[in-house]
Amino acid sequence: MKVERTFLMVKPDGVARGLIGEVLSRIERKGLKIAALKMIRVSRDAAEKLYAVHRGKPFFEKLIDHVTSGPVVVAVVEGRNAVEAVRTLIGDTCSYKAKPGSIRGDFGLDVTMNIVHAADSEAVAGRELSIFFNDDEIFNYSRGCERWI
Ligand code: RTP
Ligand code: MG
Repeated sequence: MKVERTFLMVKPDGVARGLIGEVLSRIERKGLKIAALKMIRVSRDAAEKLYAVHRGKPFFEKLIDHVTSGPVVVAVVEGRNAVEAVRTLIGDTCSYKAKPGSIRGDFGLDVTMNIVHAADSEAVAGRELSIFFNDDEIFNYSRGCERWI
């Protein structure tokens, strides 16, 4: 198992519904580490970079409108197999299909407003986190509990 960094965002619906703590708490209790964290308003330019892979798809404009509609919380999450671990924690893209126990499965019904975004590969994570964080905003620190996780 490999230590990886991934990129996570609590989308505007997640922030508006008061789910920031819930999402971060699930990340932390899993054993993953928050390496960077901030609340921002995503510009149209940054949103289009983040979702460049979806340009031209029917849902693209709606998605960009949503992620730029209000504050979001962006984070860099670190841990063994962090990319897959976080994807499993967030659940299926369609919240109404997502399994109970996952973030989307427990808190949502919508597809566009599905509470969180997370990178789906390590290469994508590196690209996405560099849109929102400078190197000096990402912290290397150790926690005493790490050898147990
Ligand atoms: P995300 O990138 O946000 O973590 O979500 P994901 O990997 O589970 O889903 P992806 O296919 O990358 O889609 C990105 C976001 O676009 C919205 N979406 N709408 N058919 C639709 O209306 C549709 N499909 C996708 C969702 O907000 C999804 O999270
Ligand atoms: Mg995606």
